[in-house]
Amino acid sequence: MTGEILLSPRKFVAPEFVYGVDSRLMVGLYCKKIGGRRILLVTDKGIEQTPWLKEIERELVKHSLEYYIFSGVSPNPRDFEVMEGLRVYEENKCNLILAIGGGSVMDCAKGIGIVSSNQGHILDYEGVDRVCKPGPPLLCIPTTGGTAADVSQFAIINNTAQRYKFAIISKAVVPDIALIDPVVLTSMDGFLTACTGMDALSHAFEAYVSNANSVFTDLYALEAIGLIKENLHTSITNPFDMQARGKVMLASLYAGLAFSNASLGCVHSLAHSLGGYLDLPHGECNAILLPHVVDFNFDLAVDKYKRVAGIFGIDNTTATHMQIKNQLMESLITFKKSLGIHTTLKSKGVTSDIIPLLASKAINDPCNATNPRPPAKADLEVIYKDAM
Ligand SMILES: [Fe+2]
Repeated sequence: MTGEILLSPRKFVAPEFVYGVDSRLMVGLYCKKIGGRRILLVTDKGIEQTPWLKEIERELVKHSLEYYIFSGVSPNPRDFEVMEGLRVYEENKCNLILAIGGGSVMDCAKGIGIVSSNQGHILDYEGVDRVCKPGPPLLCIPTTGGTAADVSQFAIINNTAQRYKFAIISKAVVPDIALIDPVVLTSMDGFLTACTGMDALSHAFEAYVSNANSVFTDLYALEAIGLIKENLHTSITNPFDMQARGKVMLASLYAGLAFSNASLGCVHSLAHSLGGYLDLPHGECNAILLPHVVDFNFDLAVDKYKRVAGIFGIDNTTATHMQIKNQLMESLITFKKSLGIHTTLKSKGVTSDIIPLLASKAINDPCNATNPRPPAKADLEVIYKDAM
C-alpha cells in the first residue's frame, strides 16, 4: 500500500482468543485456567437444540467443573433477562460466566457480569466507559459468524420500557477468552447465516470509514470485507463447506477487532433504534440500511469507499465519484439479495409515522459519534425513508 499512514496515537484492545476447528472443546481447560469453579453457562433455547451444548457440558464435567445453565435469553436481549441471569449467578455462587451462543447470548452474559460486580441495574450502565469494575471472568464461544461480541468492547441490551436498544461500550466488557470455532456455524440456517454475515460486513464497513480508525483497524476491516464478499454466499449454498465457514468466521473476528477499536456509525445507530422498537433481527436491519448509509456518507469518505468499491470489483480508477457510489450501493443491494435478504423497512412493518420517533432514539446512540458524516436527526429520518 502506498500513501501516507495515520500517525496519531491509537490503542488497540483484543482478548485472548483461539481460532480453529474444534477449539470449542478446549472449554474445560480454559475455564480451569482462568479460575472457574462454579460456572454460569449462558445460552438460549436454540442452542439447547444443537449438539454443541451437550459437548460443552461433557467437557465441563470432564474437568470437574460445576455449572448452572441460564437459557432465558431472547434475540435482542432484554434488560430483565440480564437481571434474571444475575439472580441465577448469585443464587448458585458462581465465579465465572461461560456464554455459548450468538450476539444476544454473549451481550446478556456481559450484562450479567457488569451487574454482578458493579451492582445496581443494567440500565445504569448505558453509554461509553460507565462500567467501573470488570465483571467475573468471561469465556465466550460464538455460534454465529457476525456479531463478534466475543472480542468486542460492546454490549447491546434492549430497554424494554422505552423500546430501544442501548449500547454499553467499555474495555471492562471485553471477554477474557474467546474460543472461535467455525464448526458451530453449521447449525445456522441460510437466513441466519446471511443476516449475521451482513452484520459482520456492516461492522467492517463502519470501522473502515470511522473517524476513530487506525492502521490496525483498517487492516482487519478491509480483509473482513474481502472474506465476506468471497465466502458468505458459499457458506449458505454449501453449509458444510468448512473452508467457507472458516473464512466467514475469520471475517467476523477481523471485523470485530476492527469495530471494537474504531467503533461504528449510522448503520448501527439506526439499527439499534429500529431493532429495539420493532424487535427485528439486527443483521437484517443492517443489511437493509447499509447501502443508504453509504449514500449518506460517501462524499466525506470518498477515498475509503473507492477502495471498498475495488474489493467489489467496481472500476475505481476511471469512473466518477457519483458512478462509484451508485455502483457500490447497487453491488450491496445485489449482494444481500443473492443471500436471500429481499426485505425493506416497509416490509418489516416500519410506517412513515414512526420514523421521527425512531430517529429521535437513534440520534442519541453513541455510534453516531464516529460516523464520518455527523448526522442530524433530520438526516437519520431521510435514511430511514430511503430504506423504506
Ligand atoms: Fe452489529
